[in-house]
Amino acid sequence: MTHYHLDDLSSINTNAPKPARFAVIGNPVAHSLSPQLHQPALDALELNVRYIRVEVPEGRVAEAFEKMHEIGIQGINVTVPHKLEALDACDEVGKGARLMGAVNTIVFEGEKKVGFNTDGPGFVRAIREDFGLDLGDLRIVIIGAGGGAGRAIATQCCLEDCPQLTLANRTVEKLTSMQTLLDPLLHGEKLEGPGDRLSIHSLDDPALQEAIANSELIINTTSVGLKQSDPSPLPSHWIEPHHLVYDTIYNPSCTRLLRDSQAQGARIANGISLLLHQGALSLEYWTNRDAPIDAMRQGLAEAIRA
Ligand code: ATR
Repeated sequence: MTHYHLDDLSSINTNAPKPARFAVIGNPVAHSLSPQLHQPALDALELNVRYIRVEVPEGRVAEAFEKMHEIGIQGINVTVPHKLEALDACDEVGKGARLMGAVNTIVFEGEKKVGFNTDGPGFVRAIREDFGLDLGDLRIVIIGAGGGAGRAIATQCCLEDCPQLTLANRTVEKLTSMQTLLDPLLHGEKLEGPGDRLSIHSLDDPALQEAIANSELIINTTSVGLKQSDPSPLPSHWIEPHHLVYDTIYNPSCTRLLRDSQAQGARIANGISLLLHQGALSLEYWTNRDAPIDAMRQGLAEAIRA
């Protein structure tokens, strides 16, 4: 069974030796790697429960939460396209998730649905693991900041109080409301004026090249690179040896951007560490225990090899 539908749920835990207690919802959801990430972790914690995928049509997220709570589901991951609808369906939402406008983790506390976003905090751990550095110490450029992943990461960069943040998007208009929301986070206790530390650019803005030259970390959050034949979202000569380049894409494992960056002498990492750490943080919310990270890493590696 690759996934369940909403209407299948009522009977799945009846007399089940290993009941479903955790789930990911999305639409489509069959391709989600979350079970391969979480099941080995639940097994390592000896919880004797199952992690399942559930396909939920748009507009039925609140109903899905009710049905899942009824059958004893304790925690839910939320993936595309439901992260905003999930936020609206929660009784309480963490500060990061509220700012990001997206919830990817639901914890049931009694009757209450509490929503969090672990993509941003997971990214902090990913950068620490891959580059040994803290997000809050880096001058950062996000390519594709107008998309869902870009928005979450941009918000986290501000929450970490990074010294400089450059947001770039093909459609620059998508960034203006983000700038209004995020700029005060970078200026709260500082004396600099608005715009000193956060700037927005379209991808073809010549000023973007200079912003990139003056930054340390470049992050791709566009979908450019998902197809093997995709080009890089940036001209390769904009990348320099001092750069750290992170592509949130993990399949293919080495995008054109990462190949170009490596050829330019930059350090590179792909999105596998983000996938791993956002999942580990969800599990920590659900179980109040440290995530068995090696079991999760191995499960993911096997899933990607398969
Ligand atoms: P999600 O919200 O799931 O992250 P999305 O809304 O499709 O996905 O966002 C994908 C990101 O990739 C956006 O920043 C998008 O740019 P636009 O906001 O201008 O659409 C970016 N993107 C997609 N295709 C692109 C392309 N060919 N060139 C540059 N950016 C692209």
